[in-house]
Order: sequence, then structure tokens, then C-alpha cells
Amino acid sequence: MNWSNWIRQSHRWIGIVFTLAVATNFVTMAFGEPPMWVVYSPLPPLLLQLLTGLYMFALPYFRDDMHYGG
Ligand code: HEM
Repeated sequence: MNWSNWIRQSHRWIGIVFTLAVATNFVTMAFGEPPMWVVYSPLPPLLLQLLTGLYMFALPYFRDDMHYGG
């Protein structure tokens, strides 16, 4: 598996982790104020999503067989 593929797979799976962290927030909120670590738990996966997402966004512009904007 090459580097870009590894980044894409990471983005997919960290997306699941992020989703579970957000869902955990809603579930715990049903039982009152959630603990602080639950409230902030989506942020580390979200940061990784941002970095891997921006990497994937930039990828096509660095491909030498594609020339956007002439
Ligand atoms: C936070 C900033 C984020 C950025 C900048 C970002 C950016 C991107 C980009 C550029 C792609 C590739 C699109 C393409 O095929 O050209 C992508 C794919 C994807 N993103 Fe994100 N993303 C972000 C957050 C998230 C989050 C929070 C989730 C899920 C909860 C998510 C789930 C996915 C999935 C499932 C794909 C498809 C991956 C695949 O090819 O199988 N992303 N994202």
C-alpha cells in the first residue's frame, strides 16, 4: 500500500472514531452534564481528519499527469 492510500484509509477509519466520539457525547448528555474528557474527545480525531483531509485535497494538484488551470 502506498503513502496516499495509507492516508486515505486512515481518514476513513479515524472518521469512524470521530463519529463514535460525537455519538458518545449525545448519549452521555442524556444522563446530565458529560465529563470534560468526553466533551473534548472528538477533537484529537478531528485534528487528524483535518490534516489527512487537507493532504487528500492537495493531492490532485501535485500530480504531474494533471494540470488544473492550464
Ligand atoms: C476536518 C476536515 C476534513 C477535511 C479537510 C476532509 C477532506 C476530505 C477529502 C479532500 C477527501 C477526499 C475526497 C476525494 O475523493 O477527492 C475526503 C474523503 C473522506 N472523508 Fe473527509 N475531510 C474532513 C473531515 C472528515 C470527517 C470528520 C469525516 C467523518 C466523520 C470524514 C470522512 C471522509 C470519508 C469517509 C471520505 C472518503 C474516503 C474514501 O475514499 O474512502 N472526513 N475528506
